[in-house]
Amino acid sequence: MGSYKIDNLEQYFATYRSSVENPESFWETIAEENFVWRKKWDKVLEHNLKEAEVKWFLNAKLNITENCIDRHLETNADKTAILWEPNDTEEKPRHISYKELHEQVSKFANVLREKGIQKGDRVCIYLPMIPELAFAVLACARIGAIHSVVFAGFSSTALATRINDSECKMVITSDGAFRGGKTIDLKKIVDEALKECECVETVLVAERTKSNIELVPNRDFLLQPLLDNASQHCEPEIMDAEDPLFILYTSGSTGKPKGMLHTTAGYMVYAAYTFKNIFQYQENDIYWCTADVGWITGHSYILYGPLANGATTVMFEGVPSYPDFGRFWEIVQKHKITQFYTAPTAIRALAKENLDFVEKYDLSSVKVLGTVGEPINEEAWHWYNDHVGKKKSPIVDTWWQTETGGIMISPIPYVTPTKPTYATLPLPGIQPGLMDENGKEILGNQVEGRLCIKFPWPSMARTIWGNHQRYKETYFTAFPGTYFTGDGALRDEVGYYRITGRVDDVIIVSGHNLGTAPIEDAINEHPAVAESAIVGFPHDVKGNALYGYVILKEIGEGRNRENLKKEINQEIADKIGPIAKLDKIQFVSGLPKTRSGKIMRRILRKIAANETENLGDISTLLNPEVVEGIIKGK
Ligand code: WTA
Repeated sequence: MGSYKIDNLEQYFATYRSSVENPESFWETIAEENFVWRKKWDKVLEHNLKEAEVKWFLNAKLNITENCIDRHLETNADKTAILWEPNDTEEKPRHISYKELHEQVSKFANVLREKGIQKGDRVCIYLPMIPELAFAVLACARIGAIHSVVFAGFSSTALATRINDSECKMVITSDGAFRGGKTIDLKKIVDEALKECECVETVLVAERTKSNIELVPNRDFLLQPLLDNASQHCEPEIMDAEDPLFILYTSGSTGKPKGMLHTTAGYMVYAAYTFKNIFQYQENDIYWCTADVGWITGHSYILYGPLANGATTVMFEGVPSYPDFGRFWEIVQKHKITQFYTAPTAIRALAKENLDFVEKYDLSSVKVLGTVGEPINEEAWHWYNDHVGKKKSPIVDTWWQTETGGIMISPIPYVTPTKPTYATLPLPGIQPGLMDENGKEILGNQVEGRLCIKFPWPSMARTIWGNHQRYKETYFTAFPGTYFTGDGALRDEVGYYRITGRVDDVIIVSGHNLGTAPIEDAINEHPAVAESAIVGFPHDVKGNALYGYVILKEIGEGRNRENLKKEINQEIADKIGPIAKLDKIQFVSGLPKTRSGKIMRRILRKIAANETENLGDISTLLNPEVVEGIIKGK
């Protein structure tokens, strides 16, 4: 095992040092000793960050599903790979063993091949958190198809944009989804989306809610009968290390969503390595990450990372508030969860409820707690530590991004002393730096700046699907030669990092990245709206909520304002999804702009947060007079 597992602080520092002094031999040893390769690499790394070019494990051959499934069959065939917990407490959980996972994925992969899907084809997966979602993802990986999972809370328009951007040939969906007390007709959303998508030839439909659906002849097929007829033997496609594994869309501050492309070997090595260390995973642990597979956290830390380690990973279909606010803790008790990984927004929501919901359950199985997706505030950290971890389970505050593929800065539990609100230290192989506004690195401790990563790591996204130029411009031009994260951070006196939040126009609401531009575009399509600007403002559960400043056209002026607000939010729900709805809408007569016409969001953010005393110098604005009006009209 060697450097694969870190057990104490001394070992961490030694490992970290060697990973920086000789990154190639560091990653080579890990890759060599812990994975199954059909052929080893000729070279570990080739890179030119100025051009945004990176390759790892050049010319190596492998299939990630052999690493996540087949190799565990020899010793662990009957071990539970995926423990599926349904939405409804009356329904029984499913224990899917590695053997069954192998069968299901192989059959599914054969169905994909039968329907004409080949290596390199894009397959869009739009499914709720049911086992078929895991099978679909792994089946794509088995045959070398590139999966693009779209979170099943996105609207039909958002789904269509993503399907078209990567020209998916197939969509895998379900009749519907159960979420708490609600049923959502997913197939209808897909049908609506596909009116705009000519590239899709086939739709596979898993049955979950048994709701009424229409099947378009020769395009739509129920999944189960196809699986029933498929062989359970499926030769994996042998992939090159740098062959694409998946596309996952994330919001940018401008323009359409970015299809981040991850490739095979580097992603696998990094996801597996970080899973093992950050959760101090041991054989027989029952690990649970509450994210949705529709986000990167679900890709790396529900599926690929845990399965590559032969772990038991829990997949939960429901929501934390159903049937009541004790659901998470009931599941922890029932399955004796050892590692629990969730989002600060969920913690804040649960912390508002009666303590009974958490205290009536036995949580003594928990060894490690984790958070991800946004900064965790001190209060939520302590609530988590006191009432869930009972002050004995270290909290790993894990900082990373869709683009980074895996966790980058995080404590290693029982190794790194934790500090509330701090993601603490970089993982081995990760070289963070803080930059000032002029692109100069800020050295030393007790400093604050823009967070960059100065050296490539195996799981970094390789490009934006179809637009390498945008990839380069977004991440590699602000500070040439380094990867710019878009986040601000500070480094304390001992070198611990604390992420302070986005420094661009991405707003994180309940852990979801939302770009301001697409929301503004959606609002501006309302016939009564002339122009709009969106900013984030602090919210005690969601972290940030959205505040919209809207200028009406003349035809809107006479209309009922409350109705208009509802219509604007409906427009957003239709174009993007309910997660992007605005908490507050203010109608204004103008927006503060620079002389070059750029909206000054800094001022709007302060007004939204009620910090109007220190707006800074507004005299350079094109129209300083509007500011007063906006403050008055709040
Ligand atoms: C934010 C999620 C503070 C950050 C894995 C980042 C965090 C963005 C943390 C990426 C954390 C994620 N502390 N902020 N522990 N983790 N973020 O792509 O702003 O959905 O850039 O990936 O979430 O969100 P994404």
